[in-house]
Amino acid sequence: MKASEKLAEKLIDTHSLTEEEYAALIRSREEVRDTLRGAAVRERKAIYGNKVFTRGLIEISSFCKNDCLYCGIRRSNANAERYRLTPDEILECADRGYELGFRTFVMQGGEDAYFTDERLVPLITEIKRRHPDCAVTLSLGERSYDSYKRLREAGADRYLLRHETADEEHYKKLHPAEMSFENRMRCLKNLRALGYQVGCGFMVGSPFQTPETLAKDLKFIESFKPEMCGIGPFVPHHETPFAKHTAGTLELTCFLLSVIRIIHPPVLLPATTALGTIDPMGRERGILCGANVVMPNLSPVSVRKKYELYDNKICTGEEAAECRGCLERRMAHIGYEIVSERGDFLA
Ligand code: 5AD
Ligand code: FES
Repeated sequence: MKASEKLAEKLIDTHSLTEEEYAALIRSREEVRDTLRGAAVRERKAIYGNKVFTRGLIEISSFCKNDCLYCGIRRSNANAERYRLTPDEILECADRGYELGFRTFVMQGGEDAYFTDERLVPLITEIKRRHPDCAVTLSLGERSYDSYKRLREAGADRYLLRHETADEEHYKKLHPAEMSFENRMRCLKNLRALGYQVGCGFMVGSPFQTPETLAKDLKFIESFKPEMCGIGPFVPHHETPFAKHTAGTLELTCFLLSVIRIIHPPVLLPATTALGTIDPMGRERGILCGANVVMPNLSPVSVRKKYELYDNKICTGEEAAECRGCLERRMAHIGYEIVSERGDFLA
């Protein structure tokens, strides 16, 4: 038996490898991709069957005080078109999403000082009042413990905050000096302590990423056991310092989706929009490698192009007004069923 096959077997049996073993597995992944994909699909099937959960994504603001080197809405991008949705527009998105069958709404945005707790609390309260059977997920970046607490008390159920990389030196290469790995990790721990279902995650193929930094991401997922984990390829944005870096690949992203599913079988794992952006069948391929969530865009079509984290983002044209139907057809085509459920983490 080859060394890589032994590692794959160990991972399948014990849901864990050492950091060195993860790095070796990633380097020799061609030899074990199919084995791990099969095991990942079996793990997911045992818990979630052939269900795919959906989250209606509402991109509430493209203003951001941060300056992450990879991101198209970083504050230094003077050419980014900025917008923010009004509370009424956000509530309308949720109402329309509810009619379409969504039972989770994700409010995502840049770190926009406008969205204070005073503004968010009534908004979350009102969504929960109108749609008590729905989950509210927030994806609004780093905030204080106190703020996370107030938003949680207002009814927010889940929070997505990608850790971006579990290697501190790598983190410094992706972010400006005023941002810190330590604070990112503290935020994740605070969210967990407050009883949120927490999502971490990272980009695949981000500049300066190596099998060694990825091995740390996998070890982090092993120990943190996030309820959700968002991974998608890095896609360069032309107005950022990383404009000339190459995009992450479908192949490595799909491999890592399989590995993460095996490490932590109940994790809610999206086939991301970025994966759909680098390949027309990317999201389908992601599901077939172990993902079980898709996040169709519910934002008003008029703003979708402005929430441009990376180039060529899909679902931004008039023809994409109704992403849910599109994804229902796409999932049915590969033998999966999009369901109208909250899709909570099953531990
Ligand atoms: N390519 C892919 N993903 C990106 N993100 C930000 N910029 C890019 C990019 N250029 C991801 C980050 C962030 C999430 C909201 O989007 O991981 O956490
Ligand atoms: Fe948006 Fe297909 S999912 S157009």
